[in-house]
Amino acid sequence: MVEFRLPRNSRITGGKHFPAPAGAGKVKTFKVYRYDPDSGQNPRWDTYDVDTSQCGPMVLDVLIHIKNTMDPTLTFRRSCREGICGSCAMNIAGRNTLACIHGHDECPGDKVAISPLPHMPVVKDLVPDLTLFYAQYASVEPWLHTETPEPQKEWRQSPEDREKLDGLYECILCACCSTSCPSYWWNQEKYLGPAALLHAYRWIIDSRDEATGERLDDLEDPFKLYRCHTIMNCAQVCPKGLNPAKAIAEVKKMLADRVV
Ligand code: SF4
Ligand code: SF4
Ligand code: FES
Repeated sequence: MVEFRLPRNSRITGGKHFPAPAGAGKVKTFKVYRYDPDSGQNPRWDTYDVDTSQCGPMVLDVLIHIKNTMDPTLTFRRSCREGICGSCAMNIAGRNTLACIHGHDECPGDKVAISPLPHMPVVKDLVPDLTLFYAQYASVEPWLHTETPEPQKEWRQSPEDREKLDGLYECILCACCSTSCPSYWWNQEKYLGPAALLHAYRWIIDSRDEATGERLDDLEDPFKLYRCHTIMNCAQVCPKGLNPAKAIAEVKKMLADRVV
């Protein structure tokens, strides 16, 4: 199990307790990180005793139940509830994952801690500020670069070349990997992090792309790429089962082979 630090600048103080209603069936306790930077108050942990017999099976169902029936002030992101949009990424019981596909029964112990993705500024409660994360994604220019004239119909690709993109294109940009990476925690202004680098590799090996050299040049930097020390947290936590560390290693190999 990967251990995580609490969100940055979090001097956490005691919070409120919301007991389960009388006659509740199967009660489980959730300790949820609460923080409103505009309030000027320190973050706190609020405790909710949730009657899980009254909500669906996932942690997102628990959060929705809390918001609808116990505390409407709780703030979190979600959209698809299918593990597709990446919005509900958060740290659940010490592990970055998607709340909508993580069962509350899977969480060990009687008390489950839920906090925002680690080491990111907090917008409110469980909502991290992903501005830098998305800027880093944009910086790898995740679109097809070509010089040859555009074909009449489409850029073609053989099934074999298309297969090389498997394990890369499925990334939903949830940020679970980057925010679990110690190198990213300490150097996120300069190190691109596993998610952006996985996407960089996805375009480097796309047989239709004609900017492979420029893309590799751009990554040849002591911080942008080489801050990855193969700690592997990224591959351990990815809720889509992807392996950003492997993609990063492939980029390093391509650069090394290019020098020789
Ligand atoms: S393998 Fe690299 S990118 Fe992945 S967690 Fe480790 S240092 Fe970070
Ligand atoms: S590689 Fe996995 S953990 Fe990282 S952003 Fe993509 S889907 Fe999320
Ligand atoms: S709500 Fe879309 S991934 Fe969880």
